[in-house]
Amino acid sequence: MTARIIDGKAVAARVHDEVAGGIDEFQKINGYAPRLTVILVGDDPASHSYVKGKERACEKVGISSETILKDASISQAELLEIIERLNNDPKVHGILVQLPLPKHIDEDTIILSIDPMKDVDGLHPENAGLLVLGQTRFAPATPLGVQRLLIEEGVDTNGAKVVIVGRSKLVGMPLTALLLQKGIGANATVTVCHTGTKDIGIETRQADVLIAAAGYPGAIGADMVKPGAVVVDVGVSRVEDSTRNRGYRLTGDVQFAEVVDVASAITPVPGGVGPMTISMLLVNVLRAAKFSIQD
Ligand SMILES: NC(=O)c1ccc[n+]([C@@H]2O[C@H](COP(=O)([O-])OP(=O)(O)OC[C@H]3O[C@@H](n4cnc5c(N)ncnc54)[C@H](OP(=O)(O)O)[C@@H]3O)[C@@H](O)[C@H]2O)c1
Repeated sequence: MTARIIDGKAVAARVHDEVAGGIDEFQKINGYAPRLTVILVGDDPASHSYVKGKERACEKVGISSETILKDASISQAELLEIIERLNNDPKVHGILVQLPLPKHIDEDTIILSIDPMKDVDGLHPENAGLLVLGQTRFAPATPLGVQRLLIEEGVDTNGAKVVIVGRSKLVGMPLTALLLQKGIGANATVTVCHTGTKDIGIETRQADVLIAAAGYPGAIGADMVKPGAVVVDVGVSRVEDSTRNRGYRLTGDVQFAEVVDVASAITPVPGGVGPMTISMLLVNVLRAAKFSIQD
């Protein structure tokens, strides 16, 4: 069997068009565009590249975006002050603090300081709690992107056995909460694996839908995949590659070349989940702007 390659870019483009329509309508009614402010601390190249991608996507769909760049030496108190200012600025609808932050800053404190109604990353404990209760306000963009990709690709999760490798608060945990809920693109039986799982292969081989989010290149080999399973690779790691001008290439958690012969459908890296993450952030910004006029 050779798996169908799921085209995340194509699905993301459809979501972009949808969001662009929503933004246009919002602007016509309210006379201004939804606004996202991103805070980027330090000079981590991957973070800068993610933020650039977000800026470009915002521009394309008509979201007004601003990036506040700060040196890695910024104090936690200064960062909290900036967030407080943005929380109180009615022109800012979404706030996103690009992670990771320098070690001297406590990420949990920073996330907790963001107004939950502007928390377009869906990481504030209030939003994480609402998600678990099935009363989603904002869910993190990557899990939303995975779910949307499955829906758009016609993958029936209803009653399906889904195995997620990874339990992070950014991906694995919220994705578990989304896929467990009753409703479209959910209602699955979900198993979550992590470094404490005794034999990951035993779990993954039972999956109708296998979602890899370990951040460990090559973690999922063909012998860990049930024939005909749908495989979604969330992982993105930089591995050295001297044949590339930039000296590295991006790779996922799944051993693509061999798993493609076992799965029925598979997402590539890049071009799978990545584009969906950005799309769903745009969805969240529009959602935040709509919340702001409901108050
Ligand atoms: N495409 C996108 O848009 C996008 C967005 C976000 C993240 N990502 C990528 O997704 C990956 C995961 O991100 P994250 O933020 O969730 O990472 P993370 O916070 O490091 O969490 C990784 C999770 O995977 C588990 N894990 C790690 N190695 C494992 C192994 N060998 N076997 C079983 N479980 C293992 C860890 O278990 P423990 O809890 O036991 O440590 C942890 O729960 C990364 O490659 C990241 O770059 C991609």
